[in-house]
Amino acid sequence: MTHISILGGTGMAGSALAREAASRGHTVTVASRHAGDHDDARLDGATRVSVDITTGQGVADAVAGADVVVYAVNATSAPHQAMCAGLTTTLDAVRRAQSPASPGGPLVVLPSIIGCEALPGGYYKAKVEQERILREWDGPSLTLRVAQFHQFVDKLLTASRRIGVSPRAPLPLQPVEAGAAARAILDAIESGPSSDILQIAGPESLTLAAAARMHASALGYRALPLRLPLPGMGAAKRGALTPKPGAATLTGTSFVSWLDARARKEV
Ligand SMILES: NC(=O)c1ccc[n+]([C@@H]2O[C@H](COP(=O)([O-])OP(=O)(O)OC[C@H]3O[C@@H](n4cnc5c(N)ncnc54)[C@H](OP(=O)(O)O)[C@@H]3O)[C@@H](O)[C@H]2O)c1
Repeated sequence: MTHISILGGTGMAGSALAREAASRGHTVTVASRHAGDHDDARLDGATRVSVDITTGQGVADAVAGADVVVYAVNATSAPHQAMCAGLTTTLDAVRRAQSPASPGGPLVVLPSIIGCEALPGGYYKAKVEQERILREWDGPSLTLRVAQFHQFVDKLLTASRRIGVSPRAPLPLQPVEAGAAARAILDAIESGPSSDILQIAGPESLTLAAAARMHASALGYRALPLRLPLPGMGAAKRGALTPKPGAATLTGTSFVSWLDARARKEV
């Protein structure tokens, strides 16, 4: 049994990882600003630690005694640089907590995004910067580039639906169900550190426009099709958000099957 501490453990990626780790019998720490308020019966045995990576509050407690530290923090409200500084703060805390008995220290794991190096905007630049920070860290590490979650695409399309539009963009995606991604990430964690960047995606590629049509059809609504020009997203339109052939773990159900289950309220 391994002690896995997940910073950002209440988020979309972090909570799926926490549930998967708990179901495999690992000891789990869930750390975030509101970790104590996060109610999930599947995580009853988990330790909750209040952490704010923008101030460093709680980070030392969150990583104390951990064999694996996952940095799954994501903050759209804080500057992107804060997410990078937070990773450095976390690595410093890991270093200080290191026991002389295990000089290699805990495995530090970073979920990143497939294609982040080819995408414009501060958010993706911050992901590339986080990958660099971890690459230059001299302890054991693992970086996993993951495709967009079905749950994330659903959230995006649900927000569009609320304002009556259905985004139509020829943007190839290869979304993956968050629980399936968590299983693949846990498999990688259990295999140990790697200097290669692993990729995890769903079983099939589809465009955002196709996903939007499937969403409206599965959930039974009509919305105004809205063509999105996506300036600066040329690389993404050419497939940067999808995994390199042959180099990825493709896992879980397709988006349309997941949507059908969602429509039946099974997920
Ligand atoms: N969503 C996707 O489709 C997807 C796909 C591939 C990779 N990823 C990657 O997975 C990681 C997590 O993304 P996500 O989608 O799971 O994000 P998310 O759902 O927005 O969750 C963000 C997490 O960060 C915590 N957090 C935010 N600000 C914090 C702060 N100042 N201090 C400490 N914790 C803070 C949040 O909890 P509190 O609010 O309680 O602090 C929450 O647990 C990111 O690196 C992202 O790039 C996501």
